[in-house]
Amino acid sequence: MAEVVITRSADEASALAADHVARAIAAQPRLVLGVATGSTPERFYRHLARRIAEDGLDTSGVRAFALDEYVGLPADHPESYAAVIERTVTTPLGLDPAHVHVPDGRAADPFAAAAAYDRAIDEAGGVDIQILGIGRNGHIGFNEPGSSLGSRTRVKTLAASTREANARFFADPADVPVHCITQGIGTIREARHLLLLAFGADKSTALAGAVEGPVSASLPGSAIQLHAHVTVLADEDAAQQLTLADAYREAWALKPAAQGF
Ligand code: F6R
Repeated sequence: MAEVVITRSADEASALAADHVARAIAAQPRLVLGVATGSTPERFYRHLARRIAEDGLDTSGVRAFALDEYVGLPADHPESYAAVIERTVTTPLGLDPAHVHVPDGRAADPFAAAAAYDRAIDEAGGVDIQILGIGRNGHIGFNEPGSSLGSRTRVKTLAASTREANARFFADPADVPVHCITQGIGTIREARHLLLLAFGADKSTALAGAVEGPVSASLPGSAIQLHAHVTVLADEDAAQQLTLADAYREAWALKPAAQGF
């Protein structure tokens, strides 16, 4: 079962996650970090940037792989995930841009670009820590309900509800792309440690399904239950539908802080 850490706030969860990743970078300067976009990890990246500065960590060897990218946005679009990752991850964490990878949503052949992305992850030795958010419909990456739990990086169509949820980032809802390239659930499951962040009441149904519901392609986040090393960091609002919340709290309270996740 996933380790579930319920925190008083999103900020506390983000700081815990940043502490964990900062220690991992200190121990393994060539760490391969899987990075998510969206609102959820933004605080985590800010905390991590602060920790890197305070601890004087050398991040020049760290490699990063984004989960997903829209297909067809112009190169200079500020909401392309390439631009978002550059703004929120590469620059603040001081990563070498040559070490930061985002699926190529503008490739003439996005299907070939998707296959090449899986090969690039393999060539880097696989992802050590994968940061995940979860969609209200239970998606991870852009693996919408119905996605195969063994899927590889590929071209997908965004669910109408995901396009609606992401319309907040675009001037016009019609501008939200219809297609994306996303790491598959099988790809995500190959990361050595999954660190899933979930904040706010609107994630509570998806989170409860992912952590405690049946494993099903209807709720792609439930695939985390098939992984041997998963940490879920949730604020009280996102955790409100977890039936085993007290057990998670007790387990976390008993764990020596130095042990980490
Ligand atoms: C983003 C991603 C998505 C988001 C999810 C939640 O790279 O893969 O699965 O994590 O849509 O988005 P937010 O955090 O904006 O609620």
